[in-house]
Amino acid sequence: MADMPTDFWAGWIAVITVVSLAGLGWLIFSIYFSAESADEHGDGPVWDETLREGSNPAPLWWFWMILALLVISVVYLMLYPGLGSYSGALRWSQGGRFDANVAAYETEFGGIRELVAGAQLETLRGNPALMKSAQSIFARQCAVCHGYEAEGQANLFPNLMDAHWQWGGEPGQVEQSIRAGRTGIMVGWSAVLGDAGVEQMTQYVKTLAAQPDTAPPLQYTQFCSACHGPDGAGNPVLGAPSLVSGVYLYGGSDAAIKHTIALGRTGEMPGFENRLDDTQIKLLVALLTGNGTE
Ligand code: HEC
Ligand code: HEC
Repeated sequence: MADMPTDFWAGWIAVITVVSLAGLGWLIFSIYFSAESADEHGDGPVWDETLREGSNPAPLWWFWMILALLVISVVYLMLYPGLGSYSGALRWSQGGRFDANVAAYETEFGGIRELVAGAQLETLRGNPALMKSAQSIFARQCAVCHGYEAEGQANLFPNLMDAHWQWGGEPGQVEQSIRAGRTGIMVGWSAVLGDAGVEQMTQYVKTLAAQPDTAPPLQYTQFCSACHGPDGAGNPVLGAPSLVSGVYLYGGSDAAIKHTIALGRTGEMPGFENRLDDTQIKLLVALLTGNGTE
């Protein structure tokens, strides 16, 4: 096993396992079949002249149960990894299962790879079978965070089906988000703005969504406009979301907006370049940019 720290430990683990099993075997045999337990009603000490100390044997089915479990353990250790670095007669491993998954994937996708590589996103979207594959990739890789319908989740993971994109909704930008991942960095401003400043900025951000042409307070121009833009439209290069759209990744309540402004946020989208191949990524891009929201 590659993940065993050293051969030294692998050896010890094997020894400890075997000794423990042998010890357990010896223990139950000695309890049930030793000379002493044979005469349990015999010569135990006698207390108070008539009170004789003996012991009732544990029920015999316990013995058979423990013996059966011992046998199962030994068979298991012969077939599967468990004894130090011995990989078991079946050579089962997580890596092996991974290889099997890869093989299954090859049969599923091998044939369509070239077709996908050459096709327009439009064409891919028009192919229900391919979109079904895209959905199943999404369900496996992305739904834990973004939700099964890509509807977003928990005021932490963005909705990928709406027209609002933090990092841009062009196919190239979405592809980049998936390949390399994204880290949105919004620092906290409580030290700079103070409580009153945070409150004022929260109110301004809320007004912005309702009346986009409200004149910005000086502090906005000073501290926020570099990233969110002078008019609050956001900047996809920095992942700074639009503050005029009325759509909030972290929630639109006063408390949520205040939290963001005072303490900051760092949303992190993991990169999938090493986990998905070009075909899978292209199918996902087609899926996510498919509803007229590019
Ligand atoms: C561990 C959780 C997690 C997983 C898994 C995940 N994402 Fe994300 N994703 C995020 C977070 C968090 C963000 C927002 C990053 C930020 O705040 O800038 C994000 C952002 C994105 C964006 C940018 C959205 C925008 O508005 O610009 C895209 C596109 C995206 N994810 C697609 C995917 C796809 C496709 C998958 C599956 C292959 C996936 N994500 C898997 C957490 C995740
Ligand atoms: C260095 C660039 C930068 C500056 C300066 C900045 N922001 Fe941000 N802001 C971001 C980024 C990036 C995000 C997204 C964070 C994430 O994805 O986790 C963000 C998120 C936000 C959000 C949350 C939006 C949502 O969808 O939930 C609000 C509100 C916000 N910023 C307001 C402000 C205000 C007010 C200021 C000025 C006091 C400010 N920002 C200054 C980059 C910046």
